[in-house]
Formats: sequence, C-alpha cells, structure tokens
Amino acid sequence: MSKKIGVLTGGGDCSGLNAVIRAVTRRALIEGWEVIGFRNGWAGVIQGDHIVLDRQRVAEILHLGGTILGTSRTNPTDEQIGTITDNLKKAGVTTLVVIGGDDTLTVASRLHRQGLPVIGVPKTIDNDIAGTDQTFGFDTAVNIATEAIDRLHTTAESHGRVLVVEIMGRQAGWIALYAGVAGGAHVVLLPEFPMTLDQICKIIKSRHARGRNFSIVAVAEGFKLEGEAILQTKELDAFGHERLGGIAERLCSAIEKATGIESRSVVLGHTQRGGTPTAFDRVLGTRYGVKAAELVISGQTGKMVALRGTDVVGVDFDSVITEQIDKKTGQLKLRMGNRNVPKEFYDLAKVFFG
Ligand code: F6P
Repeated sequence: MSKKIGVLTGGGDCSGLNAVIRAVTRRALIEGWEVIGFRNGWAGVIQGDHIVLDRQRVAEILHLGGTILGTSRTNPTDEQIGTITDNLKKAGVTTLVVIGGDDTLTVASRLHRQGLPVIGVPKTIDNDIAGTDQTFGFDTAVNIATEAIDRLHTTAESHGRVLVVEIMGRQAGWIALYAGVAGGAHVVLLPEFPMTLDQICKIIKSRHARGRNFSIVAVAEGFKLEGEAILQTKELDAFGHERLGGIAERLCSAIEKATGIESRSVVLGHTQRGGTPTAFDRVLGTRYGVKAAELVISGQTGKMVALRGTDVVGVDFDSVITEQIDKKTGQLKLRMGNRNVPKEFYDLAKVFFG
C-alpha cells in the first residue's frame, strides 16, 4: 500500500502553520511515509499543484509566520469535490491532513462524508472551533493585541483620551476578551454580549469622574453597535462571510460625541495574523502536527486533532459537525460547530470595567 500524506493549509493564515507542516512531515518521515504539500488551500488540490515535503523543505520554518504552502479561501463546488478526489488519487495520497479553520474543515468534513480519509487540524486566531479547547494562532494574536493595548495606555494617558481598539475574531470575542483582560482595558465589548452606547459611556464617564483622565475600550470587530453589524463592504467572501471592520471608528465618534472626551480609534487588523508565533503556538502546532501524523500512521481517519485540558487527542469529525438545511436550496449543509465566549468568562472581564 502506498504511504503518502497530503497536507494543505486553507483559510486566513495565522502564526504556527509552519510548525504544524514541519511536525506532520518529520513524524511521518520517521515511519517511512512520503509527504506532499498542496499549494494555496483547496485551490492547489483542484489544480493538482503540489510540492514534496521532505526534511530539507521543512527545515528552519518553525519560527516563521505565514505558511510555506500558501493559503486561500477557495470553497470547492460539488463538481470540484469530484476533481479533488480524482487529484488526490492521481497524486497517490492515502490521507489528507487539512489544516484550517471552520470553513476549510467544513470542506474536509464533506470529503470525509464521501469516504475520503482526512484528518483535520484546527487553526485560527479566532479560537472559535468547537471540539477543541484552543486553536493554534490564537495565543500569538492575543499577545500582539495585548502589547498594542499596553502601548495605547501611555499615549491615551498622556493626552487624556479614550482609545478604542478594534480586535479581530469574527462572531467570537475570544481575542478581545483575552487581550482586554491581559491588557487591563476599561471596557471590553464582544459580539456575544450586547451593550448599549449609553452603558458604555456611563462606564467611561464614571471612571473619569473618579479622576482618571483616559480610558481604553477593547472592541471585537463583530460587536454590534445598537444592534448594527459594522461592515467594510457589502460583499461576502467565498464562504458567505461578511467582511467585518470599522466598529472602532464608529464607536470612537459616538463616544466622543456623547461624553465630550477626545477619542481616537485603532484597528489592529492583519498584524494579529502575521509574524513570529509565540512559544505556546509553536508547541501546540507541533503537538497537533505529530498527533495528526500518528493518527494517519495508525490508520485512523475522519478525526480532528484537539486540545482537551492538557492532552492532545483525536475527536471524531462527526462529533463537531452540525447539519443545517440551506435556506436557499433546501439541501443539507454541513458546518463545523462554533465555540463562543461563555458568560462566566465575560463576567470575569466585567469585574475590571471602569
Ligand atoms: O478568521 C480569521 C480572520 O482573521 C477574522 O478574524 C477576520 O474577520 C478575517 O479572518 C479577515 O479575513 P481576510 O484575511 O479575508 O481579510
């Protein structure tokens, strides 16, 4: 039997992807497996575009951000799923290791349902994938956002301003929550927990009434201002997601108008996805990669590697996939489950508001 693993990285990049690619490769090579990497996510499998991953190719990449394979948000059509199956066969791939967030893993689960051997590795700065306690990439993003908040403290205090910092995360507030708590933000606003402009301004005003001359507001990009999602554009991406962005600017103007305190906004944007991974993400990525290779080697497929407590385990894809009926087509749609911030954790952040 051929022993060949195919690897791909799909969706938005994050720090730690190269640690996973290296770990899958190194662990598989020990057992005499071959490894190839498809370029640019699902696009590479559709086009049959791949490179050999050997010891040399994965050397000196552990500390690098981004992905040596490239990535894309390609969402294969049903017809392209057929092409993917054919091209994997042509390339002699026995199992595909898919490193991605909920969109990329949703495609992997479609392939799994069609009987293709796949293993998923949960990646995203958003930390919103069900079935795992943490995705890799999240820790690095939190550290970048925390450092930014630390820096904003001194400039906000020097000028006596409100600084509103916009943090990524889509419909999950994990990065804003962690960075807000770690950075000592005075208000943390998450998509999961609505708060009115009046409530936000009351917190800021009471803080200033106590003699503090500045405030830091950490706002997740998915936070809705008076129920309205703030979008960069009306266009949706390939997976039907809205392009969020602009909440900090909107909130900043509204706060300045309502409180009379000079305010500024900062958007951290893609800086949260770039650059050197933290040691934590390198180790988590390495553990995920080794586990993924070991599942393949032991003949297990249809699983996603996951962090449960301090253990890295394999969980069944079927346990983390939700089935929905597509409103437009009436057909069954698979979707990776999402994980949002629980109320108890948000309540902890609220202790330090104001
Ligand atoms: O899902 C990761 C993420 O960085 C989100 O936090 C953000 O909303 C989105 O991707 C941005 O996507 P793009 O790279 O396509 O602008």
